[in-house]
Amino acid sequence: MRRRHLLLAMAGMALAMGGAERPTGLQALAAKRGLVWGSALSHTALADAGLAALLLENVGTITPENALKWEATEPEPDRFDFRPVDRILAFAQQNGLSVRGHTLVWHHQLPPWLEELPAKELEKAMERHVRTVAALGRGLIRSWDVVNEPIAEHGAGLRRSLWLVRLGPAFISHALCWARLAAPGAQLIINEYGLEGDDPITARKRSTLLALIDRLRRDQIPLDGIGLQAHLLAPGSGSPQFTTLASFLQELHWRGLKVQITELDVSDRELPADIAVRDARVAETYDRFLEVVLREPCVEQITTWGLSDRDSWLNSTFPRSDGLPQRPLPYDEHLRAKPLRSIIAARLIQTTPPMEPIPSRRHGSVLPIGHHQG
Ligand code: G3I
Repeated sequence: MRRRHLLLAMAGMALAMGGAERPTGLQALAAKRGLVWGSALSHTALADAGLAALLLENVGTITPENALKWEATEPEPDRFDFRPVDRILAFAQQNGLSVRGHTLVWHHQLPPWLEELPAKELEKAMERHVRTVAALGRGLIRSWDVVNEPIAEHGAGLRRSLWLVRLGPAFISHALCWARLAAPGAQLIINEYGLEGDDPITARKRSTLLALIDRLRRDQIPLDGIGLQAHLLAPGSGSPQFTTLASFLQELHWRGLKVQITELDVSDRELPADIAVRDARVAETYDRFLEVVLREPCVEQITTWGLSDRDSWLNSTFPRSDGLPQRPLPYDEHLRAKPLRSIIAARLIQTTPPMEPIPSRRHGSVLPIGHHQG
């Protein structure tokens, strides 16, 4: 209860500091602490003037939610279709936004023709795809989710995806090297979900990812950062903790990696129908999560998976059992700011900025993988 009062007081303070009518945009607040704030962009966003205006008010970077995925960009072998993504890149360019490239190698949203290829052909198709798509939007696409969700669901080892089964674990190194060749100026990211919590599966997933990173480091494979998707769940009971997250982020930092929060949202599917209760618990989860990540110097950008509840993927993929729409994002379905938006702003203003990067304790100098000293 005391925490809820504190959250509301912080929200009020953020509004006051942001001015009378229109609060300062999230990107402006993030920029003051050297961070970039972003949002995913659904296919309908550009046709929706209200949503486009909200994006411009709040973000410095956008992530095409689906337009860069394989089924969209290469629907038939070697026939690329960049029309949808070109519209997004033009919007970004006109408005001075950067773009996160999502995603080059994933096991979902693949065109059917790809899944039928024998191993040798599959590898060739992956090389062609990565080298062609990663070359898009030079200067605008500043980071690429080169490999998405490579860790097994329950954390033990790599995911038995089409890529792993047919090409073996080297598919990750190959994708990263081809992406570096095609986009030498872009940050190369491995993007993963389920890395934020305090449960045993999360702990296992983290160890598997760290072992993968260490293998890539040993082999001098280019990798600049890790994306934490951060699809969070507001707990049905108790408070969200994230007590083990800071030390995991420090493990990444010691390995010379940047961290991007790439798909943040908070599901309310385990909470009762009451909107006030749901909004408060979702806001509490955001608040606690941001409090932890904003203190870590390796975290350089935070993207929510959309801005408005109207566009959230959660309603189709994880619907509530009572059929009510979920409320996982800072703006409601009518594009009105929710109290959550002020709580995010307050956290950006109030959390003590991170200290200067901590010197590595265990891994020598803090350098991205694949970058040589001297
Ligand atoms: O393209 C078809 C369209 O032709 C058809 O009319 C329409 C009817 O439903 O479906 C369209 O495809 C949908 C697609 O989004 C584009 O809107 C798919 O059914 C739907 O499953 C797909 O969902 C996307 C999901 O990835 C697929 O796994 C979500 O929009 C997207 O938000 C979600 O994003 C992922 C990230 O890429 C990776 N991390 C998890 C995150 C959430 O699942």
